[in-house]
Amino acid sequence: MFSFIPQLLIGSADLAAALLFMYGLWRMSSPVTAPSGIRVAGLGMLVAILASFLYLFGVSAAAAPHLLVNIALAVIALAVGGGVAWWSGRKVAMTSMPQMVALYNGMGGGAAGAIAAVELFGNRAQGATQLVVTLIGALIGAVSLSGSLIAWAKLDGVIKRPLRVKGQKIFNAAIMVATLVVGAYLIYATQGAAQPLMSAPHLIELYFALSLLFGVLMTLPIGGADMPVVISIYNAFTGLAVGLEGFVLQNPALMIAGMVVGAAGLLLTLLMAKAMNRSVSNVLFTNFGMAPKHKQGAIKGSLKPTAPGDAGIAMRYSSSVIIVPGYGLAVAQWQGKLYEFVKLLQAGGVSVKFAVHPVAGRMPGQMDVLLAEAGVPYDMIFQLEDINSEFASTDIALVIGANDVVNPAARTDKSSPIFGMPILNADQAKRVFVIKRGEGKGYAGIVNALFYSDNCNMVYGDAQAVLISMIEAVRGLGLPAAA
Ligand code: TAP
Repeated sequence: MFSFIPQLLIGSADLAAALLFMYGLWRMSSPVTAPSGIRVAGLGMLVAILASFLYLFGVSAAAAPHLLVNIALAVIALAVGGGVAWWSGRKVAMTSMPQMVALYNGMGGGAAGAIAAVELFGNRAQGATQLVVTLIGALIGAVSLSGSLIAWAKLDGVIKRPLRVKGQKIFNAAIMVATLVVGAYLIYATQGAAQPLMSAPHLIELYFALSLLFGVLMTLPIGGADMPVVISIYNAFTGLAVGLEGFVLQNPALMIAGMVVGAAGLLLTLLMAKAMNRSVSNVLFTNFGMAPKHKQGAIKGSLKPTAPGDAGIAMRYSSSVIIVPGYGLAVAQWQGKLYEFVKLLQAGGVSVKFAVHPVAGRMPGQMDVLLAEAGVPYDMIFQLEDINSEFASTDIALVIGANDVVNPAARTDKSSPIFGMPILNADQAKRVFVIKRGEGKGYAGIVNALFYSDNCNMVYGDAQAVLISMIEAVRGLGLPAAA
């Protein structure tokens, strides 16, 4: 009844959605334009949803006797999914953002897998090419779903340590081979049959079960410090799976959106691997079957606590300070106060810079977002490779809630899980202050020799309380007011 809706309109809406996705992503390349980039991409998603409804009305009206049921289901799914996303997006704490990203990423993979399931069980993936693409999309989508759920559990602390057992590498490889064999058999056995896939529902179920299992097994042994690579690789997988299923459905918006996400995820994976000085295959495969071997060597020196006020005054009388923010700052949510303190220092003529490590926090870019939220100008924020040589000529490095990203074991201790990762050279500053609550370890679970070194003082306390005391102490000096 709605077949008058021209194909051209649907195609144009798809194209507009794809262009909006690409323009939105392009704007996300700079922190200044990123917020509008997110809105543009959101608009693209809205147009893509409208295009899907146009498709429902215009194309499948004749073929689908269940048109109204389908539309009702789509509206219910949109209302429930949109409602949950709206509610959780507003409620989520900044520290839980990485877990949420992992969950949503898994849902993207799951959605791609669900499309593949509908195509396979509904016997719609006709022809060898269609079937192969659907099966590859199903495999990648399912791996991304179950793997992202394990990543969520690791980020949330539900799973506290990598699970490694002897023989795991061979077992995982066997599961992968079994998945591929079932997929190949599905293609072989169903060629030429009248209702090809209808004849093999159990094989399809087995294929999905093995793919999901592989995602779990692949992620369980990966160590904490390597999680940034894992998160971004699942991001790439999800995009790829969505793009492949877009090809199966011949939906250009889905194809382009999937490929854009896949390509962005791949680039992010390579960036994260570079930041950790690892190859992607090293992260994914070398841990399999290995028991953790790291034994912390004896650390020389002692922990030397100092009062927050004294640390604040020392910074006020220095000429240069580099601040290294880490996950603890995201926990404390006191980035606004940190910038207030920085402005006090600047008003007294101190040069202040921020040094951001690519894997600081629990998700890519988390520190940049925190500092942007506090209003820190972008020209004060420097990435590792741009600032690392400056620590040696800096009076004070202020490490706030960071640990692994300034751990010198990465340079020297071959058995350390973070060995080889480039770190911020905070230890090379003339003096170092570390704000943290106690003896807590970083995400990689290792002690930090920096905290024991001669030039380092510990400023114990929650970042919130410490910053308040520092600000009070500097204000108490009665020097020039903050700008
Ligand atoms: P971490 O090494 O995790 O150290 C954070 C430190 O903050 C802890 O030692 C903790 O010590 C302190 N802390 C926590 N809450 C605090 C609070 N309220 N006030 C003050 N201090 C607080 O952080 P990092 O240096 O940012 O390193 C990131 C780590 O996470 C790396 O190992 C990285 O590989 C991993 N990781 C990163 C990502 C991404 S994509 N960025 C994803 C997953 C994992 P106390 O408990 O003693 O206070």
